[in-house]
Amino acid sequence: MSTVFISHSSKDNVAAEMLRQRLADRGYASLFLDFDPADGIPVGASWERTLYRQLQACDVVIVLYSAHHRDSNWCFAEIALARMGGKRVITLLIDPLEGQAIPSILGEHQFLDLRGGADDATFARLWRGLAELGISDEATRRWDPKRSPYPGMLAFSEAEAPVFFGRGDETRQIIELLNANKRRDSQRMLMILGGSGSGKSSIVRAGVIPKLRHDTQWWVIDPFRPGREPVAELAERLARAFGQPPDAGSALANELRRSSIPQVLLTLVRRTNRPDATPLLVIDQFEELLSGADERAAEFLRMIDAACASDHFAVQMMVTLRSDFLAVLEQRRDVPNLQRASSSMSVPPMDRRALRALITEPARLCALELEDGLADRLLEDTGTPDALPLLAFGLRVLWDRGHEDGRLTTAEYEALGGLGRVLAREADAVLDAVKRDDPTAYALLPGAFVRMSRLGEGGGFARAVSSWEDHPVAVRAAMRRFVDKRILMSRGENGVDRVEIAHEALFRTWGPLAQWLDEQIDVLRLVQFLRDSVGRFSRDGDEADLLRGPRLARIKELAQSGQIVLTPDEQSLVERSATAEKDRLLREGNVIGAVLADATLRSLLEPRLKPLIEELLAEQKTREASSAFGFYDLQARELADTVDAAKNIAQAQVRWHPREAALTGNTGARGNYIDVFTFPCCGKQVLSDGSVSQFRSDGCQVHEPEGSATKGVSPAE
Ligand SMILES: Nc1ncnc2c1ncn2[C@@H]1O[C@H](COP(=O)(O)OP(=O)(O)OP(=O)(O)O)[C@@H](O)[C@H]1O
Ligand SMILES: [Mg+2]
Repeated sequence: MSTVFISHSSKDNVAAEMLRQRLADRGYASLFLDFDPADGIPVGASWERTLYRQLQACDVVIVLYSAHHRDSNWCFAEIALARMGGKRVITLLIDPLEGQAIPSILGEHQFLDLRGGADDATFARLWRGLAELGISDEATRRWDPKRSPYPGMLAFSEAEAPVFFGRGDETRQIIELLNANKRRDSQRMLMILGGSGSGKSSIVRAGVIPKLRHDTQWWVIDPFRPGREPVAELAERLARAFGQPPDAGSALANELRRSSIPQVLLTLVRRTNRPDATPLLVIDQFEELLSGADERAAEFLRMIDAACASDHFAVQMMVTLRSDFLAVLEQRRDVPNLQRASSSMSVPPMDRRALRALITEPARLCALELEDGLADRLLEDTGTPDALPLLAFGLRVLWDRGHEDGRLTTAEYEALGGLGRVLAREADAVLDAVKRDDPTAYALLPGAFVRMSRLGEGGGFARAVSSWEDHPVAVRAAMRRFVDKRILMSRGENGVDRVEIAHEALFRTWGPLAQWLDEQIDVLRLVQFLRDSVGRFSRDGDEADLLRGPRLARIKELAQSGQIVLTPDEQSLVERSATAEKDRLLREGNVIGAVLADATLRSLLEPRLKPLIEELLAEQKTREASSAFGFYDLQARELADTVDAAKNIAQAQVRWHPREAALTGNTGARGNYIDVFTFPCCGKQVLSDGSVSQFRSDGCQVHEPEGSATKGVSPAE
C-alpha cells in the first residue's frame, strides 16, 4: 500500500521522477506516482478511481507546486481530497510562479522552497519534515531485532507500532472519522467497537495514536484505562501531556472536578505553542466504566457527558468499547449528551491476508526465518472466536522457544499442541511448578483467580480490575510466575500496582480456571455483590446498601480465613454494616442475633449457646412435623452444630417470623451480657449461664433442667 502520494502535473514529470528517485534512495518504498511504471496506475485501470483510492490510502501527500499544478483542476481536486481526508500535506515549490503567493489551501501546511535548486540541504529538510510526520521508513522500521516482535496476549502499545501490521485500512479509516468529527462540532466521541480480543486497543494504541502524534492539529493525550480512579488517571495523563510535574496530578484532579474537562484542557492547551490544536482524550476499555455501580465511574461518566455537551471548547474523545456493552450504555439515563454526540466504528475481523502479514512482517523486521508452510499452518488454526489473542500468544511462545537459531519451524509449532492448546499448556506448566514448589500458594491460587474475575454481562466470565494488595502475600510470588509468562498482566495505575488476567481467552481455554470459578461461584457472586455495594454506598450513602445477614457473615468469614483480602473501602463497608446490623437486631429485639454480630460478645456467649442448639437439634428429630422445627431442621442440615446454627436460627426467625419470632430478652445490668432469651415459637428460654429455664406446653418435649436459674428474668409473653 502506498504511503507517500506525489501530487503533480504531468507537465512536471521530470521533477516528479527526480523526487521519486530521491525518496526511493532514501528507503521510502511506499510511493505512489501516477506515471510510475512499477507503483503507478496499472495500464487499463480506471484512472480517476485509482487515483482516488491511492489518495485515500496514503499517509502523506507531497505536492509539487508549480504554475502547471496551479492551473490543473485535477491537481486542485487532489489537494482538496487530501485535506478532506485529513492527510498531512507537504508542499515543494518547484517553479518561480511569477510573484504569485501560495494559495491559502496549501498555506497552513509545511512547505519547502526548491526554486533555488534541489540540493541535499533542501532534501534534508524534507526528510526531517517527513520524520516529524511519522512517515520516515527509517523511524517506523526501527526495531531491536533481539526483542520479540510478537508481544503476546497483551494489546500492542505505542512503542510496539513498528511491529504492528495488518490494520492499515482500519487505522486510516479511524483517522478519517476523527478528522470528520473534528470538523463537525456536534460530534465529540468516536467509539471503536468490537468483541473481546478483536484488536480494538491495539489499533488505537499502535495504529492510530503514533500517526496522530505527528499531526500538529491534534494534541494526543496518552491513552488510559479508567480503572478504579478514572478522574485521577485522566489527571495524571494530562500532567504528563502538558509537561507538568508528576505530583501535579492531584491538583489537576481537583480542578477537573471543580470546573470541567474542556475548561481545564482549554487552559492547558492555550499555554502551549500549539494553542489551536484539538486535544484528543483516548479512553481504552471504556466498558470498565459501565460494569457495576461504582460512584467514581459514575462521576467520571458525568464529566465525559458534560464534555460532550460543552460548546465553548471542543475536546475530542476516542474510546474502545466491547460491543456487548453498547446496549448497557444506550440504556443509561445519565449520559444523554454522550449518546447524542458519539459516532462509532466496528473493528472487522482480520482477513487472511492481514493475518498473514501479522505473522510474516514482524519476522522480516528481525530477519527471522519462518519455515515454508508455517504461516499457512498457523492460519489453519485461526478459525475460532479467540483467534487473534491465541495467535498472538502462540507466536510469542514460538519466539520464546525457537528464535535462537534464527528460524521458526512447523515442528516447533506442532510441539506446542496448536493454537487451541498453547495457552492452556503454558498455564498448566506454571500451575504444576507452583504445586511442586509452593503448596501454600497453590492452595490460594483459586481464590486469587476468582478475585481477578467477575461475571460478564452476556453470561460467562470477565476479568476484574484487582491490585496486588487485594491478594494474600503468600500467593503473590506464584502470581508473578503467571505474569512472567504473560498470562497475568501487572501494570502501574495511578500509583497502584494492578494485576489482572491478560486476556479473557483464558476463561474460555484453561480448564482449571473454569473449574475454580465453577466451584467458587458463590464467592465470586459475594465479592461482586460487595464491590457493587461499595460503589452504590459511596455514591448514594443509602443504608439500604449496607450488607446484612448471611451475606455479611459469609464475607466476614472469608476475610477472616484469608480466602479473600478486603480493600480498604470494602473493609470499611463491612465494619459499618456489622455495626448497623447489630443496632438493627437490637432494635428488633433479636438479642442473640445482635450478640452474634458482635465478635466479643459472641466469643463470650458461644460456649453457652452450644448446649441449647444441640438440644434444639435433638428435639427437632422427634418433631419433624412441627413447622417451626422443620424449619430449624432445614437450617441445621446446612450448618454444623456450632454457634453458626444459632446464628442462622436467629436470622431465619427474623426473616420468617418477623414480628413474633425475634428472640427477646434483656441486656444485663452489667451491660456486657444477656440475662435471658426467649424463643417465642416454643417458649424456651435460655439464661446467660446457658441453662434452659422454662418450657411452654405447646407440644414441645418438656423436661426440667436441673438447677435452672431465673435471676433477672422478665419472660416474654
Ligand atoms: N494487528 C495485530 N497483529 C498481531 N496481534 C494483534 C493485532 N491486533 C491485535 N493483536 C493481538 O490480539 C489480542 C487482542 O488484541 P487487543 O487487546 O487489542 O483486543 P481488544 O479488542 O482490545 O480486546 P479486549 O476486548 O480484551 O479489550 C492481543 O493479544 C493482541 O496482541
Ligand atoms: Mg482492549
